[in-house]
Amino acid sequence: MTHLLVTGGAGFIGANFCRLITSLRPDWRVTVLDKLTYAGNRANLAGPAGPAGGSVEFIHGDIADAATVGPLVAAADAVVHFAAESHNDNSLTDPTPFVQTNLVGTFVLLEAARAHGVRFHHVSTDEVFGDLEIGAGTKFTESTPYNPSSPYSATKAGSDHLVRAWVRSFGLDATISNCSNNYGPYQHIEKFIPRQITNILTGLTPKLYGTGEQVRDWIHVDDHNRAVLDILERGRGGETYNIGADQPDINNKQVLELICELMGADGYEHVADRPGHDQRYAMDAAKLRRELGWQPQFTDLRAGLVDTIAWYRANEHWWLPAKQATEAKYAARGQ
Ligand code: NAD
Ligand code: TYD
Repeated sequence: MTHLLVTGGAGFIGANFCRLITSLRPDWRVTVLDKLTYAGNRANLAGPAGPAGGSVEFIHGDIADAATVGPLVAAADAVVHFAAESHNDNSLTDPTPFVQTNLVGTFVLLEAARAHGVRFHHVSTDEVFGDLEIGAGTKFTESTPYNPSSPYSATKAGSDHLVRAWVRSFGLDATISNCSNNYGPYQHIEKFIPRQITNILTGLTPKLYGTGEQVRDWIHVDDHNRAVLDILERGRGGETYNIGADQPDINNKQVLELICELMGADGYEHVADRPGHDQRYAMDAAKLRRELGWQPQFTDLRAGLVDTIAWYRANEHWWLPAKQATEAKYAARGQ
């Protein structure tokens, strides 16, 4: 594996993946294909020695454009597919780009990978499984039936099904990973944790949807990306792997109170709940641990949040330009 095509490499998880590859596999070549939507930022790939250490080539383009995608896939040894519309709340306002990028875009990439016989790894989410009961102690496994709730989750579920069909019908050498909620540097400030950190840093009140009893299974982005690398290098073709850090349940209210405590902030307000809000996510990552020996390195959420808060404090120039527009979108929804 020497030349990767990383789709969505200017987004949160994709950019952190490129940084990880340039540090752990410095002899590999990385080409990023990214449309630079509101969520993409070329600065995410910048480093002291140029773009992520100098070995990342950037192509500005759309994964749904077959003419762009074909030659890029043909030139790669593997595609690592992160590109997506990724925010649930946006999918409730306008599902159109979710269908276009997550479904049509994935289809276009799969067709190119099939045509050129290129290894494919599809990055997906725990949200395809729907939700679990709060306090039930159950977890999603790779064989949990799909039951997506939002347009975002439904389009990710559909993209997973496309990948499986291309494996079974056309023999594509592909793997899928479904990961829980990520946190860490370079996450767009529309998402829960960076929204609250940057609210506090700009003097705004943190915002909790509804009662805040919902549970998310937080994992550091570097742990997610190490698992993606393990699956890419050693995962079995045609298989799906759940990724999650197996942490004790913690609800949104508790996470927000922890952020407030760490930042010395006073309080927060309850705002309109998300329609169809998934109650609880929890991933069983036993297969990944057993088959590939992966384990999370960030097992203390408090310590991970301390680092993440420090990153947002130190990188105001990165997020401040997007703050006003992001909050305006939320204000229009009463959130
Ligand atoms: P993000 O929104 O931060 O980044 C998405 C990137 O994709 C952006 O750089 C954007 O410009 C690019 N993009 C969007 N549409 C495109 C198109 N048509 N063509 C090319 N590029 C396009 O998302 P993220 O949080 O980094 O998530 C990356 C992947 O991981 C997604 O597939 C998401 O479903 C999955 N995932 C995310 C989480 C999470 O907690 N954020 C958890 C599990 C899985
Ligand atoms: P989010 O980061 O949007 O991820 P996802 O919807 O994929 O889980 O939200 C995480 C949780 O935080 C989710 O239960 C919704 C909640 N939330 C808030 O309470 N306040 C906020 O401002 C946001 C953005 C999310």
